[in-house]
Amino acid sequence: MTTTKGLEGIVATTSAISSIHNDVLTYRGYSIEDLAEQATFEEVVYLLWNGELPDAVQLREFRSNLANNATVPDEIYDLIKALPHQKVHPMAVLRTAVSALGVLDEQADDMDEKTNKQKAIRIQAKISTIVTAFSRIRQGLEPVAPRKDLGFAANFLYMLKGKEPSTVAARTFDKALILHADHELNASTFTARVCVATLSDIYSGVTAAIGALKGPLHGGANEQVMRMLDKITSISEADFFIEDALAKKQKIMGFGHRVYKNGDPRARIQKKMAEELTQDSGEEKLYLLSAHIEELIRNRKGLLPNTDFYSATIYHTLGIETDLFTPVFAVSRTSGWVAHILEQLGDNRLIRPRAEYNGQPYRAYVPVDAR
Ligand code: CMC
Repeated sequence: MTTTKGLEGIVATTSAISSIHNDVLTYRGYSIEDLAEQATFEEVVYLLWNGELPDAVQLREFRSNLANNATVPDEIYDLIKALPHQKVHPMAVLRTAVSALGVLDEQADDMDEKTNKQKAIRIQAKISTIVTAFSRIRQGLEPVAPRKDLGFAANFLYMLKGKEPSTVAARTFDKALILHADHELNASTFTARVCVATLSDIYSGVTAAIGALKGPLHGGANEQVMRMLDKITSISEADFFIEDALAKKQKIMGFGHRVYKNGDPRARIQKKMAEELTQDSGEEKLYLLSAHIEELIRNRKGLLPNTDFYSATIYHTLGIETDLFTPVFAVSRTSGWVAHILEQLGDNRLIRPRAEYNGQPYRAYVPVDAR
């Protein structure tokens, strides 16, 4: 038996959803550059789940389906209110609330494709409402009900802030959601597939995936990027800060990638978005600091930014609280998780690899008195 730590380079499944080839990322064959520039998040979700872009009628129907399912049951608000808001991480709240959605869905265990797609809509629609409701409840504010006339991205920002976002903010957020929607067999997506391959339900798959996304080596990195940027108050401090962190062998969050060794294509798009957004808002400082750090780390370690690095600047400039960055990632990635769950269930086989044993050799049991 040969083992590969972290399953690096192992091809564990076939998938027709997204592809990373020569550092180019595509969803169902469309480049993320084209989708980020020209599509909306709803179109991308439809594409991921159905394999083709929707026509105008299909898109209208899909949008209204999402909007009509965005309200969450009262039990979810009660649950969120009962949690220790000030102490608990929003990703733990999200994981718990999505699991509770499954408890409340009478069709949770119906496994036919049609019902699974209806549940997919319900999860995707409600996840924004959960994240934004938690943010408001912990500030002592009432949750803002979703609006049916707003698109998915604008609705999220509206429910978060209680006021309609500007066109620039809504479009930037829409693009950010598109860029995070899917990413081949990343850790959380693999987790979702492993979970449902036992024929467990879609809520369990998404709940498990949220747990995997939470860690700082995966989705949790975007929050840690912001915490680092917060500590570096000026460009002149950055050199010392980064040298010190590297000397202590600390990982710099938002840099490096298991698959991309010549740079993450999402990060290139996000860098431009961060520059334009901060110029538009007149708050360019964070972008300039980030660009300086990128240069430093490239020169010092040859490492390039991944998707989490410039998302921190984008989300912060959009007025999103730092510990909501990873939940925002989850709001978007739910679309990819669901696509993979549906694909896995469409041609399922239990995922059960082996481990190479390196423990004690075979030995005889010794009764407790004789030990
Ligand atoms: N800062 C400093 N050194 C690094 C970093 C980093 N961010 N990333 C990799 N390295 C070094 C690492 O120390 C190792 O050096 P050496 O060979 O001297 O020990 C070498 O590069 C290879 O790194 P690795 O950790 O073995 O690579 P990996 O493929 O196992 O890990 C990674 C990939 C993303 C976990 C890692 O680059 C990392 O921890 N980055 C910081 C966390 C982060 O930004 N995660 C987000 C990933 S992308 C989007 C997402 O999933 O959310």
